[in-house]
Amino acid sequence: MPLIPDYPKKQIWAVGGGKGGTGKTVVAASIGILLAKAGKRVIIIDADLGGANLHTCLGIRHPSTTIADFLLKKVNSLNELLLDTPIKNLRLISGANDFLTIANIPFAQKQKLMRYIKNLDSDYVILDLGAGTSFNVLDLFLMSDFNILVAMPEPTSVENVYRFIKSVILRRLNNSLNNSRFQDIFRLAAEARGNESIKTLYDLLERVEQMDSSIASDLKKKVNTFSLKLIMNQIKENDNITLGSSIKDITKKYLGVDLDYSGYIPYDEKVSESIKMFKPLVIEYPNCSASLCMNLTMKRLLNSSKPFNGEEIKNEKA
Ligand SMILES: Nc1ncnc2c1ncn2[C@@H]1O[C@H](COP(=O)(O)OP(=O)(O)O)[C@@H](O)[C@H]1O
Ligand SMILES: [Mg+2]
Repeated sequence: MPLIPDYPKKQIWAVGGGKGGTGKTVVAASIGILLAKAGKRVIIIDADLGGANLHTCLGIRHPSTTIADFLLKKVNSLNELLLDTPIKNLRLISGANDFLTIANIPFAQKQKLMRYIKNLDSDYVILDLGAGTSFNVLDLFLMSDFNILVAMPEPTSVENVYRFIKSVILRRLNNSLNNSRFQDIFRLAAEARGNESIKTLYDLLERVEQMDSSIASDLKKKVNTFSLKLIMNQIKENDNITLGSSIKDITKKYLGVDLDYSGYIPYDEKVSESIKMFKPLVIEYPNCSASLCMNLTMKRLLNSSKPFNGEEIKNEKA
């Protein structure tokens, strides 16, 4: 592991991406473990309510408490939910199955959850998000300092991750502009398909510009300063690993947003093998191709001020 910068405050990292089954949970667990192994205090939170499985990737069969206990007010703070994991320095707040989906958490509960997450005492908090683009998923993604997307080389996943990025940006702009004059424009942009006049983010900003140029320039800044990291997972031999760079180019062209392509992880049988054995991948198989690429990707995430591109990633040896 590289030397990890000492951030002045706790870092919240979110792992999302829209589609289920791409590997968000495997990636989030690996990131948490690698940071903890590098000596950082890490709390990892399973925010995939309804489909929680992060505990399995960390080798915990039956979590004794889950986030549902907090949402149902059985405990007063998230600290009471912290579970030790087999990895030193890494603690888990487990997700709730069969309880409700994150999309259904009422607004006040979501605000409370976010407030308590911000107050957790740790060097890093990693949020493993569920699928979809519900406001609750988007808001947890947006409350984070570091925004990681996981996609895989399938058209549905690429489409989903693009839609997720667009939804995140619209949500960010909408949140920063709590002004009913503009609500209709954001709504039209969100429903862009079939809408003739607002097809891209540029169209949206142009429309705002016509209404108020200073607000438009504020919004442009918000888009330009948005920084996202993309990880391509489950790459098979014949897949084109520069697909991540294409997603980066499309996101820039149509949404005006910079996306770092932080790395790819190959499809590796060891991933499902480790899950079946209830063993964390990067601990059980530290030298398998998925773990080695995870390490390289981690280095780039920690060093994201350094520009890189898909070609560079292609030529790198795991
Ligand atoms: N790099 C990989 N190689 C092989 N299988 C993988 C890889 N990443 C994930 N998987 C498989 O995909 C399944 C879904 O992964 P998961 O992390 O739960 O996805 P998500 O959280 O996005 O829904 C896992 O059970 C695992 O078997
Ligand atoms: Mg998951």
